[in-house]
Amino acid sequence: MSGLLPKVELHLHLEGAAPPGFIRGLAAEKKVDIARIFDERGNYAYDDFWHFLKVYEAATEPLKTPEDYHRLTLAVLEESAAAGVIYSETFLSPDFCGGRDLSAWREFLHAIREAADLAERRDGIVLRGIVTPIRHLGPEKAKEVALCAAETAGDWVVGFGLAGDEKSGKPKDFSWAFDAAREAGLRLTAHAGEWGGPESVRDALRDLRVERIGHGVRAIEDLALVDELAERGIVLEVCPGSNIALGLYQDWRSHPIHELRERGVKVTVSTDDPPFFHTTMAREYDRLATAFDWDEGVFDEIAKTSAKAAFCDEKTRENILKKLEKAHA
Ligand code: ADE
Ligand code: ZN
Repeated sequence: MSGLLPKVELHLHLEGAAPPGFIRGLAAEKKVDIARIFDERGNYAYDDFWHFLKVYEAATEPLKTPEDYHRLTLAVLEESAAAGVIYSETFLSPDFCGGRDLSAWREFLHAIREAADLAERRDGIVLRGIVTPIRHLGPEKAKEVALCAAETAGDWVVGFGLAGDEKSGKPKDFSWAFDAAREAGLRLTAHAGEWGGPESVRDALRDLRVERIGHGVRAIEDLALVDELAERGIVLEVCPGSNIALGLYQDWRSHPIHELRERGVKVTVSTDDPPFFHTTMAREYDRLATAFDWDEGVFDEIAKTSAKAAFCDEKTRENILKKLEKAHA
């Protein structure tokens, strides 16, 4: 099904998309011992979401320089393009890129952008960045991240998000950071309704004034909220394979993406941290097609919803939409 259908991905963590072989190679080069995070087949190994966050952070240890991020970005975009992705938005964290120091962050960002330009010329894939504090590092660090984001906001850094442990603190603790990002012209999204229930989605909408929600799937537990999402046109960045791999839902048919869509919510499809969850955008499409009998028309609609919800400038959006039109003509 997915074959070469062009895809638009709105929810991808750059470090979380690092191929494990790439991280292992880099760790060997830098003599960083992170053997504990891999299983015997060389894949990332973790027990549950909270352990996953620890493994994720350990996997960033060998990523020390802007050059490392340049190589990482090229490796990630090669995988995305091979799965048919034509436009992607990636979460970037100054926590990992230069420890929230603005001049270091600028250097990391420069290296990432250079790699993105190369990949665009090589594979035609377009990348944009969403700067994202890590929730469990706390609101004070998030403020520093917001300042990095505000200073580099523009046609490439287009959004601001919130990732990490949803059980740590409340969205309103991060209002200052989100206000600063909004004032700098950044578009807003936040992880909610993944490990928190429907109230976490309500909190993010009210206290952070986001226009998209990362995951948001647990809104299904409150149908009044589902109606509100549909009416307000709030876009959910749904990552079904991630939710299933992390044990939120037992299997693909139990995942609420189909029901959310049937109830009029704008759903999109992304991979989150693809190698951690043994997925790709092509695999997500295939699994969804099988589980819910979705045909090409549904995927076309989802890709267009994603393009319309992308945080990029209008000219970039028009180009994506044109490519989608051409593929379905
Ligand atoms: N960081 C990377 N993946 C994440 C997820 N699924 N939820 C929250 N934070 C994350
Ligand atoms: Zn995520």
